[in-house]
Amino acid sequence: MTLQLHRVYRFSASHLYRRPDWSEEDNLLHFGKCARLPGHGHNYRLTVSVAGEVDPATGFVVDLGLLDRLVSERVIQPLDHTHLNESVPEFAPGGEIPSSENLVIWIRKRLEAVLPAGCRLSGIRVAEDDDLAAEWQVIRD
Ligand code: NI
Repeated sequence: MTLQLHRVYRFSASHLYRRPDWSEEDNLLHFGKCARLPGHGHNYRLTVSVAGEVDPATGFVVDLGLLDRLVSERVIQPLDHTHLNESVPEFAPGGEIPSSENLVIWIRKRLEAVLPAGCRLSGIRVAEDDDLAAEWQVIRD
């Protein structure tokens, strides 16, 4: 039987939605206040989901200490208390917009390859506040 474990992490970061190849008018039209310089911050809540069989010896799907270390090294430390447009090369001016959706994609890539054998990444949810979140989930049968 496959189960999912959900672990919540928190980080704070600022971001700016702005395409340098667009006019000021177009930036404001598409991004509204999020295009205002120099940017604004959020206290993000990240949920990492891991799926696997329960290890009969430990009762766990994944070693939680190891998961915490991996998420800290691969995601939280590079992002926490940074300006995402500067700290993440993919979100530099002219690159991807540092939306919650693109953060989900970036975090998935950072974690997928490094999880230990016996479990797999099954979901990433990035909430920038109580009212807005982006999520990727493996479709389950
Ligand atoms: Ni924002």
